[in-house]
Amino acid sequence: MPISANQPARITVRTATIAYDVWISPEAISQLSVLLEGVRTRIAVVDANVARLHAAHFPPALFSRVELIEPGETSKSLPTAERLYSVLADARVERGDMLIAIGGGVVTDLAGFVAGTWLRGIRYISIPTTLEAAIDASVGGKTAINHAAGKNLIGVFHHPSTVLIDTRFLATLPRRDLIAGLAESVKHALLTTPAFVAWHETHAELIRDGDTGAMNELIARNIQVKTDVVARDEREAGLRAILNYGHTIGHAIEHVLEYELRHGECVALGIVAENALAVAAGILDPTTATRARALLHTLGLPTALPRPVDAEALLEACRVDKKVRSGKVRFALLRGIGAPVIVDHLSDAEIVGAIRTIQP
Ligand SMILES: NC(=O)c1ccc[n+]([C@@H]2O[C@H](COP(=O)([O-])OP(=O)(O)OC[C@H]3O[C@@H](n4cnc5c(N)ncnc54)[C@H](O)[C@@H]3O)[C@@H](O)[C@H]2O)c1
Ligand SMILES: [Zn+2]
Repeated sequence: MPISANQPARITVRTATIAYDVWISPEAISQLSVLLEGVRTRIAVVDANVARLHAAHFPPALFSRVELIEPGETSKSLPTAERLYSVLADARVERGDMLIAIGGGVVTDLAGFVAGTWLRGIRYISIPTTLEAAIDASVGGKTAINHAAGKNLIGVFHHPSTVLIDTRFLATLPRRDLIAGLAESVKHALLTTPAFVAWHETHAELIRDGDTGAMNELIARNIQVKTDVVARDEREAGLRAILNYGHTIGHAIEHVLEYELRHGECVALGIVAENALAVAAGILDPTTATRARALLHTLGLPTALPRPVDAEALLEACRVDKKVRSGKVRFALLRGIGAPVIVDHLSDAEIVGAIRTIQP
């Protein structure tokens, strides 16, 4: 796929089991009516803020029913999923019917999970409306809800049948959410090529300002990175685990701070702390760690916690994470840009030491 700043892009996600298209354009959502032709029951699951701001882009007449989801991570829960199951039961949703998820990662994860579990799997279209959801959550088939014990603990692999990324949605995204989404892009860049890292550095101002051309290019590049990894390892048997870079400590922060910070903000902090871990373990050179931290900072992302957080509590939260194997916390760390490695031999003291580097 050629990447150009203003052209609509179509990227095909192809795994061993499935293939589907991701459309990126300023009017991607206009394809919805065609995609829904002949579908008997269409249940839209829509973030309430998105419904308020963008109703004109998806007329209610397109759907049999529209379910609004209260914004916030707490909606990614079993009670909300149960509410949606009742809606599907009431509407007598069958295998050939369709769920349409319109919102950020909370809604696409939740609706994807409900679609993946109802009748052992019905189809859904994903329409991500945040940068985070567009460049990460929308592709790859991971769906989940949270449990009191931790984030994303209840989930299922279930790919959407189509992803429509309509870049007009990003115009109303609060600046904080736009910036938060950039953390995943920096993660993808650090995991893949020096050229992609340099692209962020040279385009930092345009990216931070949400420039349309820069955003189109950023989204397409990120989808391509994620698609390439998922195509090679759909079920996280090996390679896909590199995408957890920044997320072991990131998820722990998210959990311990009770979702006070955005997911992307936690990922930025996770990247800084996990780079410090890699440097202390002699895996990564300090210059690359400093460069990564500077890039995150330039893009407006946090590189220190908003207030002191008990490092032991964060270590404990790392242990509950899905990335633990036989009691050992597993990390995707960098040996250099484009050279990730999975490590599970680090001591508690080393992990706590890395967490200390992001204390304010
Ligand atoms: N499944 C995956 O592979 C995957 C990958 C990355 C993240 N995630 C999950 O995604 C979630 C985070 O997603 P998120 O950052 O999109 O958060 P979110 O869904 O909570 O959305 C953030 C805020 O933006 C608002 N919003 C959404 N679209 C808007 C728009 N166009 N204009 C104005 N406001 C808008 C929402 O109402 C909400 O208040 C986390 O739960 C994370 O675990 C999943
Ligand atoms: Zn993430």
